[in-house]
Amino acid sequence: MILKDNNITIRKMEDDLEHYSLIYKWLNNPQVLEYCYCEEENTRWTYEKVKEYFSRKLINPGRYIVPCIIEYNNKPVGFLQYYVLTEKDKQYYKIDEIINVYGMDIFIGETEYWNKGLGTEVFTLVIAQLFNVNKAKKIVIDPEAWNERAIKCYEKSGFRKIKILKEAERHKGINRDCWLMEITREEFLNNNISIRKATSNDINQLVELRWQHEYEEEKECFITSKDEFVRECTKFLKDGLDKNQWVYWIAEKNKEIIANIYVKKIRKVPKPQKLFSEIGYVTNVYTKAQYRNKGIGSKLLGVVKEWARENELELLFLWPSEKSESFYNREGFVKDNEIIEYEV
Ligand SMILES: CC(C)(COP(=O)(O)OP(=O)(O)OC[C@H]1O[C@@H](n2cnc3c(N)ncnc32)[C@H](O)[C@@H]1OP(=O)(O)O)[C@@H](O)C(=O)NCCC(=O)NCCS
Repeated sequence: MILKDNNITIRKMEDDLEHYSLIYKWLNNPQVLEYCYCEEENTRWTYEKVKEYFSRKLINPGRYIVPCIIEYNNKPVGFLQYYVLTEKDKQYYKIDEIINVYGMDIFIGETEYWNKGLGTEVFTLVIAQLFNVNKAKKIVIDPEAWNERAIKCYEKSGFRKIKILKEAERHKGINRDCWLMEITREEFLNNNISIRKATSNDINQLVELRWQHEYEEEKECFITSKDEFVRECTKFLKDGLDKNQWVYWIAEKNKEIIANIYVKKIRKVPKPQKLFSEIGYVTNVYTKAQYRNKGIGSKLLGVVKEWARENELELLFLWPSEKSESFYNREGFVKDNEIIEYEV
């Protein structure tokens, strides 16, 4: 398996009857052939032709191509492939980058799944994988210019139109114009970052991030196994949400949590002058390494400060690390009313 996220699984295509039969079934659906894999009006796919054509992708000497089956709720629904562009591809697209430029193709073979956001979800997932894990510099795709749904789906996933490739693909007996579309690493890292409070659905990712955070800074002091940590931290985070004591703020990109800031609301002892007041203890401020120095931490902290104002918290306080002190100073955190500590 290559990827899994909620309902979607992307599985590497196997050289076996099951996967060839699926593709054979999909490429014998005239609705699918309306859009792809139909060079001539009378193109027909026999099982042998499917096997011959797709097994080449699996062997692909000299070309790194990964053909995959898309599953939705464990049901195979479509085909996807990604590959590193060859020199010839790059010359054709007029792309200068030297390494790690990827191309992608997709079709959903079970047509009742079209127009339901599945293509966008799958693309979003695979793009994140190619940039984060495969370290892609750029990803390109070249849908036929008349295929407005595909273009819309790719735009929703972050691709931009670059230029028309004249009569680049033969479909149903006509050489059709295609759009070269691309998304760069910088665009991927900077686009579509949303900030929100975490819910119980985010706890698994938050626990993983907490582990990464501590691993980066203190791994030589670890005294528990990861399993034990995951159990305890999951319980802690869930409890904090259930009792409404903690707010876990997250920056999210394409469903991946890339930064977090936790705030514990602490109620102060009632005073005759003010019965209810709270302060906020800020902790676990962390941005994944590849997203640092892009203003994401400031953006997240900005939202936390705004939320604190709206909720009339009297102040936010934290213990900064030496490295982060200047960051907090820039964000308006000052040494004032200094806490005096007793180390137990
Ligand atoms: C292309 C494909 C992968 C997209 O997947 P999908 O799950 O259908 O796409 P999504 O639902 O995520 O997005 C499609 C968007 O296009 C919109 N759309 C549909 N038909 C459209 C049209 N004729 N013009 C403009 N937009 C259209 C949809 O409304 C949707 O946008 P919205 O979410 O803003 O409403 C899938 O439709 C498919 O496999 N088609 C057949 C094969 C194919 O064309 N492959 C691509 C070859 S490059």
